[in-house]
Amino acid sequence: MDLSSRTLGLLGAGNMAEALVRGVIKSKLLPPQRMVVSDVAEARRQLFSLELGVRAVPTNREVCAAADLLVLCVKPQQVDEVLEDLKPAFDVSRQVLGSICAGVTSARLERHLPAGARVIRIMPNTPMLVGLGASCLCGGKHTRDEDLRAYEALFSSAGIVLRVEEPMMDAVTGLSGSGPAYLFYLVEAMVEAGVAEGFTPQQALQLASRTCLGAAKMLEDTGLAPDELRRRVTSPNGTTQAAVERLDADGVKSKVAAAIRRAAERSRELGKGQ
Ligand SMILES: NC(=O)c1ccc[n+]([C@@H]2O[C@H](COP(=O)([O-])OP(=O)(O)OC[C@H]3O[C@@H](n4cnc5c(N)ncnc54)[C@H](OP(=O)(O)O)[C@@H]3O)[C@@H](O)[C@H]2O)c1
Repeated sequence: MDLSSRTLGLLGAGNMAEALVRGVIKSKLLPPQRMVVSDVAEARRQLFSLELGVRAVPTNREVCAAADLLVLCVKPQQVDEVLEDLKPAFDVSRQVLGSICAGVTSARLERHLPAGARVIRIMPNTPMLVGLGASCLCGGKHTRDEDLRAYEALFSSAGIVLRVEEPMMDAVTGLSGSGPAYLFYLVEAMVEAGVAEGFTPQQALQLASRTCLGAAKMLEDTGLAPDELRRRVTSPNGTTQAAVERLDADGVKSKVAAAIRRAAERSRELGKGQ
């Protein structure tokens, strides 16, 4: 999609904003001169202006005046205040507001903006920091297809993007939003087991993390289902079979499913302010 006539404005210049800007610059979707960020922290503004060549300003109003594609990247508890401040300056006919703030619904974004505002909710994950994010997005009441396509293009510069219906957003948080932590947890367990078998922690970590990376790449490159790939490395009565039987006996699969359900449920609770 051609975004060359658009200006991207990020409200809050933290880690996720940085990941998005780096992706957009790297993919040449927009040059740094067509982006502007705001942050209360001087150090963050300096990083954007000196290292990335992106104009960085202290107030959100300045971003709102300069950009038409906005992305709200502050913490969820700061959302209402930031939007109320922007409301008088937000131009419904010209601007779209995207938000990556966890648990903040499109209805809540719309409530704090002028009537008819076009909003988009996006849930990325931290691998966006290394250009391998998995994001989902959905529109609000007034969002147009062209708005969704613009934000799909922006977030595709730092990973993959799926379009979903808004009620799925809590499940997205449970699966891919919190997902990287489940894999870190698995690697922690693999490293502990490796050390117990005699590896140094560094060796065990190298082996475990490469194993995850390689397995994920096999899934993507071959397009084969995970159970098929697993079957192919499981010889009858061999080591993998012994390990998987142990996992099955301990009900690990159903425990992982229960953990993801719990994360999605927690996301729903947070959305209701609990
Ligand atoms: N990290 C993730 O995995 C992830 C995944 C999906 C969604 N998200 C969402 O992404 C959002 C940002 O997360 P993050 O990890 O990038 O957080 P972060 O690094 O803390 O970024 C937020 C930035 O906004 C600044 N800020 C605070 N108040 C502000 C204001 N009124 N106006 C402008 N800037 C302000 C903060 O400065 P101070 O630090 O000085 O307050 C900070 O630099 C959150 O809403 C989170 O829910 C994060």
